[in-house]
Amino acid sequence: MSKRRCAILISGRGSNMESLIAAARDGDFPVEIALVLSNRPEAQGLASAKARGIAIAAVDHKIYAGRDAFEGSLQKMLEAHRIDFICLAGFMRLLTPRFVNHWQGRLINIHPALLPSYPGLHTHERALADGVKIHGCTVHYVVAEMDAGPIIMQAAINVRDDDTPESLGKRVLAQEHAIYPAALRLAASGAVRAEGNRVQGAGGRDVGMVAPDLD
Ligand code: GRF
Repeated sequence: MSKRRCAILISGRGSNMESLIAAARDGDFPVEIALVLSNRPEAQGLASAKARGIAIAAVDHKIYAGRDAFEGSLQKMLEAHRIDFICLAGFMRLLTPRFVNHWQGRLINIHPALLPSYPGLHTHERALADGVKIHGCTVHYVVAEMDAGPIIMQAAINVRDDDTPESLGKRVLAQEHAIYPAALRLAASGAVRAEGNRVQGAGGRDVGMVAPDLD
């Protein structure tokens, strides 16, 4: 089967991007990382993608009059690279319903919390402030509503008594790096599909939850 051509959209550091690039080196992986694109030309992740031999592009949102013009350029860039699957990885721009609908089922995101808890920013601070005992991360299909959409995979970890937002964030990030490639493999190979808000494994397989740090 030929590999799907995947773009990773970033705005910053790009550590999740790196984990996806590393996973895609496996000959069995169903996608090739064909492009890393950032809305911030200075994003650290662009330089590391380039150093790994991946095509990079910047579409600077600041030079466009509005979201439609920005996304028009984004779409053109994706088409120029014959992209057919997109991973958002720390991409800090909201996408319009038009863009999201066009890519429906081929556009996924990673979020540093167990959705539907803690959509938005500062998830680790908010989880600690609420005193939750379990926290984690989620890979989901993107829909027009921010940090919503059918959940493909989650990882859960214990919150420790002495956790700070930094220590908690570090353990969550390690799980992000583990589940994002695994979820991309499932979504891009057709091993899962969304039925309404639920993602079902093809062939009756249960997929979706890993709990590496729960005893
Ligand atoms: C990650 O925590 C991701 O879940 C969130 O933004 C952060 C991006 O980090 N959406 P990185 O750029 O992948 O290192």
